[in-house]
Amino acid sequence: MHIDIITVVPGLLEGPFAHSILKRAEDKGLASIRVINLRDYSTSKQKQVDDYAFGGGAGMVMSIEPIARCIEALQKERTYDEIIYMTPDGARFDQPMANALSLNQNLLILCGHYKGVDERVRERFITKEISIGDYVLSGGELAAAVVADALIRLIPGVLNDETSALTDSFQDGLLAPPVYTRPAEYDGMKVPEVLLSGHEAKINEWRFEASVRRTHERRPDLLRDNQPGKSDAESYKK
Ligand code: 6GU
Repeated sequence: MHIDIITVVPGLLEGPFAHSILKRAEDKGLASIRVINLRDYSTSKQKQVDDYAFGGGAGMVMSIEPIARCIEALQKERTYDEIIYMTPDGARFDQPMANALSLNQNLLILCGHYKGVDERVRERFITKEISIGDYVLSGGELAAAVVADALIRLIPGVLNDETSALTDSFQDGLLAPPVYTRPAEYDGMKVPEVLLSGHEAKINEWRFEASVRRTHERRPDLLRDNQPGKSDAESYKK
């Protein structure tokens, strides 16, 4: 998968992709991410990419011309499956959306800033608009990093244990069960006996039930939206 990200603050995106899983995915050649500075496509001396809003009001608007030049230049290099605009008024990002997007080869992500982009950018170029939640960030960069992380970790081979993405919270409409590691007892706190038993079927059953219980307590909305079946206990192998 290749992801191009257009931003006016490239520095905000350097950190996330230089580390951990994202770095490893790049090193393994499974994903590549390129950060593009929108100012490089400005024709003004001051590298301006925004302007006052028609009709007045506080806040600047990102102009269509530098964005159009940038996107059109990038489109000469590759055909994008989606051109995504990160914006608080986009569709709410969730695991099913991450799963679907992770199947793409080439994505272009435009990060909004200031009061957003000229509406005509959205009409002309954007195929998908994404928000990462109901709160406002000062720009789309951190949201783009969140989306890129969620997609890249789903690419086969990126995670060490290929099955582990399958047992993530949300992947089957349930929160993940509690996990434990050594020591088996800490200051009187014991790990549930069944997890030490080596009995795989019982462990799977315990994990499934703990998952359902946890989802009931913390996110009953997920249970209303989904009908997890008994067969989901199967997905708790490992
Ligand atoms: Cl994608 N952008 C901004 N600026 N704020 C957000 C967001 C995006 N998603 C949630 N809040």
